[in-house]
Amino acid sequence: MKKTVFSGIQPSGTLTLGNYLGAMKHFVSLQEDYNCYFCIVDQHAITVPQDRLKLRENIRSLAALYLAVGIDPSKATLFIQSEVPAHAQLGWMMQCVSYIGELERMTQFKDKSDGKEAVSASLLTYPPLMAADILLYHTNIVPVGEDQKQHLELTRDLAERFNKKYNDIFTIPEVQIPKVGARIMSLNDPSKKMSKSNPNPKSYISMLDDEKTITKKIKSAVTDSDGIVKFDKENKPAISNLLSIYSLCKGASIEEVEAQFVGKGYGEFKESLAQVVIDTLKPIQERYEQLIQSEELDHILDQGADKANRVARKTLEKAERAMGLGRKRR
Ligand code: TYM
Repeated sequence: MKKTVFSGIQPSGTLTLGNYLGAMKHFVSLQEDYNCYFCIVDQHAITVPQDRLKLRENIRSLAALYLAVGIDPSKATLFIQSEVPAHAQLGWMMQCVSYIGELERMTQFKDKSDGKEAVSASLLTYPPLMAADILLYHTNIVPVGEDQKQHLELTRDLAERFNKKYNDIFTIPEVQIPKVGARIMSLNDPSKKMSKSNPNPKSYISMLDDEKTITKKIKSAVTDSDGIVKFDKENKPAISNLLSIYSLCKGASIEEVEAQFVGKGYGEFKESLAQVVIDTLKPIQERYEQLIQSEELDHILDQGADKANRVARKTLEKAERAMGLGRKRR
């Protein structure tokens, strides 16, 4: 039997090149060999305030992007989290096996709540919902970027705790993080990850940026002053980040890209990088435009929700039975 893959992306803004290179790009090859579920995790997005209409738009846009990068609905199940109620239901049950202390230790919670007065409770209880997302499908592998590693470790802990305490129901998932591109950094500050929720659009390349914008953003990306195109994460984090982007988009090794730019300056490198990024995103954007208003998109999401509901409900029922919720079923 094929192993199962699950991953999710928040519809909290237009996806960045970081989301693509760290996660989405890998989903496409996985669908060939695994039983894949790819989710638009809208319930995660509302852990921070969202504009209602904008959220609706982002959900649809993310669905179209999944398909535009090459997710094939005949091979993988694509669905919206809130259309499969078992996620929130098991999410609650996973909260009941989580400890406040371990949730407070999550770096993403610390970052997102740092210095804020009104922090929603859901920002703290986000990881048990993420655990539910994964566990409902008996997932074996979860492909994500580096920033989700801690959440995955917690998911494993929660699953093991549940299995031991109640019944051996959940499969313990493995995290899969790419060797290059697991943490694409911000263009204006290489110490921060590229993020779709960064208020400064110059810090990221959106997957839907046009050619001019991409070129402008890459030209204004920070570098260092020695003018040598060489990978050195410690001493040259900005150029190393741009080299990773080049290498991933072009499908060439870092060494090959370095060799191509020996004796050439940052200006030439950036110009070539802009073109490589445009060449990567353009075909995706063209497919996106065809899909975004199509009825086909709704049809695919309906079918995805049907399939996901069927599988998720079964696991939820088992977990409810194990915990003693509701009445005894015959
Ligand atoms: P999210 O929406 O922040 O990001 C989606 C995916 O993109 C990866 N990623 C990056 N990779 C490389 N460089 C970057 N700068 C970068 N920024 C983001 C993320 O690691 C992620 O793989 N909690 C998750 C969503 C989620 C989920 C799940 C994931 C909910 N349930 C179950 C896997 C399984 C999140 O906020 O991702």
